[in-house]
Amino acid sequence: MSGSQMKQNGEHVPKEVSAILDALHLTDEVQHELIAVCQRSFDLGLQPETHEDAAVKMLISHVRLMPNGTERGNYLALDMGGTNFRVLLTKFTSEGIEVAAVEKYHLPHDVRTGTSDQFFDYIADKLDLFIKTHFAKCDSVTFPLGFTFSFPMEQRRLDSADLLIWTKDFAVDGVVGKDVVALLQKAIVKKRLKLRTVALLNDTVGVLMAGAYYDNDCKIGLIVGTGCNAAYVAPLSEVTRWTGDNDEPQQVVIDTECGAFGDDGSLDFMRAEFDFDLDSRTLNKRNQIYEKMFSGKYMGEVARLILIKLAQQGVLFEGEVPDTLQQQWVFTTLFVSEIVEGDSGVQHSQSQRILKSMGVDNPSTVDCKLVYKICCKLTERGAILVAAAIAALLIRVKKSPVCGIGVDGSLYNEFPTFRNTMVKKLEELSPEYKARFLAVDDGSGIGAAVVAATVSGQSNK
Ligand code: GLC
Repeated sequence: MSGSQMKQNGEHVPKEVSAILDALHLTDEVQHELIAVCQRSFDLGLQPETHEDAAVKMLISHVRLMPNGTERGNYLALDMGGTNFRVLLTKFTSEGIEVAAVEKYHLPHDVRTGTSDQFFDYIADKLDLFIKTHFAKCDSVTFPLGFTFSFPMEQRRLDSADLLIWTKDFAVDGVVGKDVVALLQKAIVKKRLKLRTVALLNDTVGVLMAGAYYDNDCKIGLIVGTGCNAAYVAPLSEVTRWTGDNDEPQQVVIDTECGAFGDDGSLDFMRAEFDFDLDSRTLNKRNQIYEKMFSGKYMGEVARLILIKLAQQGVLFEGEVPDTLQQQWVFTTLFVSEIVEGDSGVQHSQSQRILKSMGVDNPSTVDCKLVYKICCKLTERGAILVAAAIAALLIRVKKSPVCGIGVDGSLYNEFPTFRNTMVKKLEELSPEYKARFLAVDDGSGIGAAVVAATVSGQSNK
């Protein structure tokens, strides 16, 4: 065994790895600075004079009514925003919400990067399939549809909004600047489906509304999945860009689009070289800087770039960079979570398995231990980043004694270490305002049905 390996097998970590762990570490001071950056960014997005150039857009959703349990009827929900999308048939009764049917459909890469017609026709095809599978007979009435579209939108009305920019590596041509409801409805009509899109909303708004259906104290919606973003209920008096009526309820849900923190350079003080490198390889360069540091689409990719650098430095994999690991996106965030959750003891079976699948012939114990350390550090950093943004939002919402947070997304639901670290960090960072997380299964989709049901009132019994 060589001297350097002996060192690695003991308590010592090679200096190259220590340097990376240090670059990813967020000190207490940085954590508090992060909260301040978030607060400043929220203000810039809300104020009319600074909104245009603001990184965090604080978009007005036009959702004002909260559910109160009197909603009735059947609603279809379409939940689109990642590599899979879902269609749900929901029934609102005096007993609550029943999800009568749900289907998940894959959205292939060529559809996510193709033309507008291909994209919306593909969705309409799947809606057609869903209806044929789950509706006993084709009803003569037109069915109301709530559409969760998890991208930044400039909303004119509840059922009309233009896409501002694609995120999460979507790049469908001809949609930016267009009314997404009009495009979907055109495809629906082409397919002769009896559906009418009555509400369009971001997934954070959906999960907030799903949470609010079960808990009146729910004022924040949080998604920590492929992307990361949050929404909250704001009093109209604080939304100076609001030009609608001032009738009751004098509130509106704001989609913060906080995944774009740092697009103005305000997070550069804490970004590592890998964050810059990752951004330079994405379709939406210099956008979604915060989200690109940890969300489901990206955390694995940051890990991959780190592993490549360490292999090139001769610290990992006997200095060889395996071919598979060279491919962008191949090291997924699911791998990070499997390593963090599975390899905490002395066994490193997850790292072994995953590194072998990356083309590392015989990963050593040292390789596995170092990969584990890096994955843990990336997880901790991501959890702190989310906690800081939520702490900033809790200060704005000022809900006491506790604010409900509707939450959905794979990092929260399927990655316990991430979730637990995030919750613990939030308690530390927000001693004054407390949070209660409400995980609603399929929350972002159910939220679309909740909004559709709230606006339709009792008309669809
Ligand atoms: C990205 C989108 C945002 C969405 C989030 C979570 O940040 O821009 O609209 O809410 O992902 O899906």
